Amino acid sequence: MLYVLLALCLPVLSQMSSSAGPEVVFERIRNAGVITLNRPKALNALNLSMIRHIYPQLKKWEKDPETDLVVIKGAGGKAFCAGGDIRAVTDAGKTGDSLAQDFFREEYILNNAIGTFKKPYVALIEGITMGGGVGLSVHGRFRVATEKTLFAMPETAIGLFPDVGGGYFLPRLQGKLGLFLALTGFRLKGRDVQRAGVATHFVESQKISALEEDLVNLKSPSFDDVGAVLDSYQNQLLLHTLEKPVILTPDSSHLFCWCHRLFEASSVEGIQENLKQDGSAFAQKQAETLAKMSPASLKITFRQLQAGATMSLQDVLVMEYRLSQACMVRRGKDFYEGVRAVLIDKDQNPRWQPSSLKDVTEQFVDSCFAPLGEHDLKL
Ligand SMILES: *[C@@H]1O[C@H](CO)[C@@H](O)[C@H](O)[C@H]1NC(C)=O
Repeated sequence: MLYVLLALCLPVLSQMSSSAGPEVVFERIRNAGVITLNRPKALNALNLSMIRHIYPQLKKWEKDPETDLVVIKGAGGKAFCAGGDIRAVTDAGKTGDSLAQDFFREEYILNNAIGTFKKPYVALIEGITMGGGVGLSVHGRFRVATEKTLFAMPETAIGLFPDVGGGYFLPRLQGKLGLFLALTGFRLKGRDVQRAGVATHFVESQKISALEEDLVNLKSPSFDDVGAVLDSYQNQLLLHTLEKPVILTPDSSHLFCWCHRLFEASSVEGIQENLKQDGSAFAQKQAETLAKMSPASLKITFRQLQAGATMSLQDVLVMEYRLSQACMVRRGKDFYEGVRAVLIDKDQNPRWQPSSLKDVTEQFVDSCFAPLGEHDLKL
């Protein structure tokens, strides 16, 4: 979920103006159901009313014999979806409003519906794709990145953790790459999004509308038929696009190795130690980034990915719902403080509690994972 990027690099946000028209548009184009996230001024940030429109529509299309595939995209060209609309959620949490429970529950139920969707589901993740936007795409069968895609799970910067099934997909990326992305909120761009395995395909931005046209023209496509169309577009890449590796160069893949070397540790403290000892400028920078994140979030996230590596998506979402409620209503203060520092006051100077890793006890982390009894998420 979330919205950090907005505050970090764009001065918009605090009062987002509502755009004209409905916040999600559904179209039937021949045998395809097309979902357009339509809050371009808010970078298509996901709010509860959008979730409440998308979920039933998706279930309807899943059963409808006339619908063969679903395409989801964002309006406005800048973002697929920059995250969950968390400002409203934290306001609700402070006043005890049920939105704090409902938002997470219904968002994770939607993530699961996408992860178990029985027909081809194609997410065109052009532009900013973070947090809640990742949850709307990464669990689907096909994710198409372009050179404009910007991916991140930046939740540890606001006292949260990489939810929406982050505990499922991140530990399944190569080596320790997912843990690196989860703890640091590192941004992947363009082709790297596909090399990392977050996207299944990479297609040039200028070809996306032709691709969409070909997809909706498919007649009763199987998963393989859809995959073949996406492959053919990927194979049309111009040489110059191929020659611009960002970080994950195809042959050396050095970020993969780097992550494996430095993020292979039995604790967050161990990772910090590895980074400090490494001595490279890149490692130094990542150590500084980690030092700014909520220590409680870092420890919760470390445990979340460790546990999630061997769990089903459903079990991960149940676990993450417990964590969301721990952050919102039961335990930590860091989520409110993070949202204050990053989104509301924008002083970028959160006062985390506890303020250092060594003061985040195992007992505290355990308590965040505790079952909620009758309030547990049911899928
Ligand atoms: C969601 O966003 C839309 C468009 O900005 C707005 O009209 C609607 O009230 C919002 N819903 C919630 C629950 O915040």
